[in-house]
Amino acid sequence: MGNETFTDQYRLGKAELRAANGILFLLLLPVPTSVGRKRKRKETKPRIQKYISSLGIKMSSANNSQTVIKCKAAVAWGPGEPLVMEEVEVDPPKEMEIRVKVVCTSICRSDVNQWENKAQADIFPRIFGHEASGIVESVGEGVTEFEVGDHILTVFIGECQNCRHCVSGKSNMCQKLGLERRGVMHTDQKTRFSVRGKPIYHYCAVSSFSEYTVVHSGCAVKIGRDVPLDKVCLLSCGVSAGLGAAWKVADITRGSSVVIFGLGTVGLSVAQGARLRGASKIIGVDTNPGKLEIGSAFGITDFINPETCSQPVQQAIKELTEGGADYSFECVGDTGVVTTALQSCCDGWGLTVTLGVPKSKPEVTAHYGLLLSGRTLKGSLFGGWRPKSDLPLLVDKYMNNEFELNKLVSHDMPFAIINQALDLMRENKCLRCVLHM
Ligand SMILES: NC(=O)c1ccc[n+]([C@@H]2O[C@H](COP(=O)([O-])OP(=O)(O)OC[C@H]3O[C@@H](n4cnc5c(N)ncnc54)[C@H](O)[C@@H]3O)[C@@H](O)[C@H]2O)c1
Ligand SMILES: [Zn+2]
Ligand SMILES: [Zn+2]
Repeated sequence: MGNETFTDQYRLGKAELRAANGILFLLLLPVPTSVGRKRKRKETKPRIQKYISSLGIKMSSANNSQTVIKCKAAVAWGPGEPLVMEEVEVDPPKEMEIRVKVVCTSICRSDVNQWENKAQADIFPRIFGHEASGIVESVGEGVTEFEVGDHILTVFIGECQNCRHCVSGKSNMCQKLGLERRGVMHTDQKTRFSVRGKPIYHYCAVSSFSEYTVVHSGCAVKIGRDVPLDKVCLLSCGVSAGLGAAWKVADITRGSSVVIFGLGTVGLSVAQGARLRGASKIIGVDTNPGKLEIGSAFGITDFINPETCSQPVQQAIKELTEGGADYSFECVGDTGVVTTALQSCCDGWGLTVTLGVPKSKPEVTAHYGLLLSGRTLKGSLFGGWRPKSDLPLLVDKYMNNEFELNKLVSHDMPFAIINQALDLMRENKCLRCVLHM
């Protein structure tokens, strides 16, 4: 990374992409954003209508729930192999499913890690993507919650509103529509995509790297038509995961000390959540020195680069926090870092929340004394939010300018150059790349 700041890396990435994509990319460049600039809610509606009509999406009000759609999708034929833009056939939605015209999808680290994961080579060919916004194209039998033309966010863990977990009000681990790991739809264990007659597996039962996709109606959340689809797709996973970890899972209190390992979109969202809760010290730990600048914009008060720190990171944190932080968050996806995060919080009440999804070595090791002396280790998926019950409130908060989201979009790109977006994330040169379908 040399001495480039993270902002320089963005600019570099953008310049390369502009060269690669000429006029089309220029058309899609975002209006520059700045932290704290207030949007006026009433101005967004004409903007989003103009945006949707500029996409040339022909949405008929008819429910075409019997037809197969042919469209473009970025298919991963093998782990880590560049995605291939294929013409795929998308089946009609089955009972309680909806078919969605994807409008925007952003790339999350989990997409990249799973695409590269050789241990799951049997779940290929596959269509990745799970952070997405779109418009309902058709509805399957039994769907009453959605109508053709509704704007939605997809979610990678659904809410059936009937199972033990959903009715408990205590958990988002829906037993019917929970995290889908086998590449098929929850209800019939089959796929809805094919290429030249060959079935294509799904990812998290969302698969948004496709112009059209089919999701269970329990894995979509309706949003207002004035909500900017090219921004709010980030609430479909990473930003909500980070804010929820800070607000719902940890429930950070005013004046507390917080340490966050990994300042990607997830970690920066935890930082923002901590700042909005009035944390007095927010320490960011990242191996990319460029994350200092963007981290400060999201509330980081102190920055540690483990690669240049002269002492063990947990020791440096103990010195900065008089014995250990009140809360620590793992947003890297490395179980070794989970151990360091646990060692970095204080005894008595220190809470470590893990959000990262490890690429390898899923076992966590830690001295038992860390727990015996009162620390808690807690995992969280999607920030503990129940998508249907809680996500609309987060969307409202965004629309009321109660938190920053636009600045986490580092790149806007056309879907056609998705491989360049994946490279940016692999090279740690982006936050969220939003792909416009
Ligand atoms: N729990 C959830 O609901 C949820 C949701 C979204 C993403 N995730 C997971 O969260 C993690 C972060 O996602 P992201 O999209 O922000 O990723 P990202 O790649 O944008 O950010 C990761 C950051 O960690 C830093 N990093 C890497 N190794 C490090 C180390 N050893 N110590 C400190 N920093 C290090 C990188 O420089 C980068 O800034 C991933 O594992 C992802 O799969 C979980
Ligand atoms: Zn994700
Ligand atoms: Zn449920």
